[in-house]
Amino acid sequence: MTMKNYTFSAPAEQTDRDEAARQKAFLERARRDVDDLAARLGRRPTCHINTFGCQMNAKDSEKLLGILLAAGYEETESEDADLVLFNTCTVRDNADQRVFGRLGRISHYKKKNPAMKIGICGCMMQEPSNVERIRKSYPYVDLIFGTHNLFRFAEYLCEVLESDKRIVELWNATDRIVEDLPSDRKYPYKAGVNITFGCNNFCTYCIVPYVRGRERSRRPGEILEEVRTLVSQGVKEIMLLGQNVNSYGRDLGDDITFARLLKACAEVEGVRLVRFMTPHPKDFSDEVLTVIADHPNISRHIHLPLQSGSTRVLKKMNRRYTKEQYIALAEKIRKAVPDASITTDIIVGFPTETHEDVDDTIDVVRRVGFDNAFTFIYSMRRGTPAATWEQIPEEIKKAEFQRVLTVVQETARKQAERLKGKILPGMVEEVNSQTEGYVTARLSCNMIVHIPGDASMIGRIFNIRLDRCCGFYYFGEAVGEI
Ligand code: 5AD
Ligand code: SF4
Repeated sequence: MTMKNYTFSAPAEQTDRDEAARQKAFLERARRDVDDLAARLGRRPTCHINTFGCQMNAKDSEKLLGILLAAGYEETESEDADLVLFNTCTVRDNADQRVFGRLGRISHYKKKNPAMKIGICGCMMQEPSNVERIRKSYPYVDLIFGTHNLFRFAEYLCEVLESDKRIVELWNATDRIVEDLPSDRKYPYKAGVNITFGCNNFCTYCIVPYVRGRERSRRPGEILEEVRTLVSQGVKEIMLLGQNVNSYGRDLGDDITFARLLKACAEVEGVRLVRFMTPHPKDFSDEVLTVIADHPNISRHIHLPLQSGSTRVLKKMNRRYTKEQYIALAEKIRKAVPDASITTDIIVGFPTETHEDVDDTIDVVRRVGFDNAFTFIYSMRRGTPAATWEQIPEEIKKAEFQRVLTVVQETARKQAERLKGKILPGMVEEVNSQTEGYVTARLSCNMIVHIPGDASMIGRIFNIRLDRCCGFYYFGEAVGEI
């Protein structure tokens, strides 16, 4: 299968350059503020960002850290720092609780170090009830902002450093895309690239469309420019990020699709691997599969959230596919890209879900044979339609969750075994902290393999023989660099 080459129309300027310039001026000012602080402290001030949640938040934290480092802070592993920022997630209630717990625990650092500044941002702050709780019960928090105005962090930093007042700035929405500000990438060899922001799907359990706003696509020209720049800086692996990557480009008007963007990214000179996260099953086109099949440097891993295997529940979830359509799509993927792993997200305990509905979910897990699955207990999110429906008792949710988990683990183990003895390319990501003399690599299909080696192998790609399967990971050996 081949696809004709596609030329993008001239990229219209999209990044808000005026705002970027404005923020760069604030960054200069913050640099002077931080120098003053350093003079008072007699050392460089330290900063720490605590990131919760998904890849989007991880990417946002790289932007926040980029600003802090450019302003003259030094990063530290400890929360006992001169500036601590919590970048929060609110997708499930346990994420909220973890943030409140940690926030409570750092108050004693501030007692010891009154000049310490504490900030909180991200998805949780887009919910007024959380902001109210922080205003009332956490008086030592100096800065609160949300997802839509993250690009103004340099400005807020100045305000926080120049006054003792608490700064709270929250926006309901934004149509602006402000890139081109500093960013500190966590890994030298792999990087995330935002392709869309927000989500239009309104799955009835999900808070994301409310806290991240409407879907906005970045222009392909700007995305490709970023990919080229990253490659020139030594990045080998790119992860295209969006809540629903398959609907990429719909708001741009041109005839740009995710398939075309994916193809163009994979064809950028020097890109060794392109991953993407997350596709929605309802929008998964044949064109995307053709592009993946035609490009060995597109990851052999497709994360395809199922959520439920019951057509009735899927309808109530507003997922816009049926059990049969999902299975047919998974089969099509297995046929078009036989070496791809398929992983998924599953929610158990959605309002009105019955034992038989869970049987349907288990049936899909068995039939698709997921290589891995993140299974979540449904968590009620205020403001979403499902929060107003009759809830399933906790004990039942837990028992059904266990039932699904057992099958998911069984299936994942079986799938992992199939790789035994194969030789596949993988990039070494880090030194293994558990086993001395070992490093950890990730294959294109997302499988983790521990191999003998040292730090000099990090960021390099090797052919790896998969020797011993340990359920969800392997022990193996590099048999040559590629
Ligand atoms: N409860 C439980 N899980 C949820 N997810 C999203 N919202 C909820 C919720 N209210 C899960 C979905 C999604 C993943 C990122 O988080 O499975 O794919
Ligand atoms: Fe949430 Fe559904 Fe959007 Fe994913 S597609 S972010 S689950 S509303």
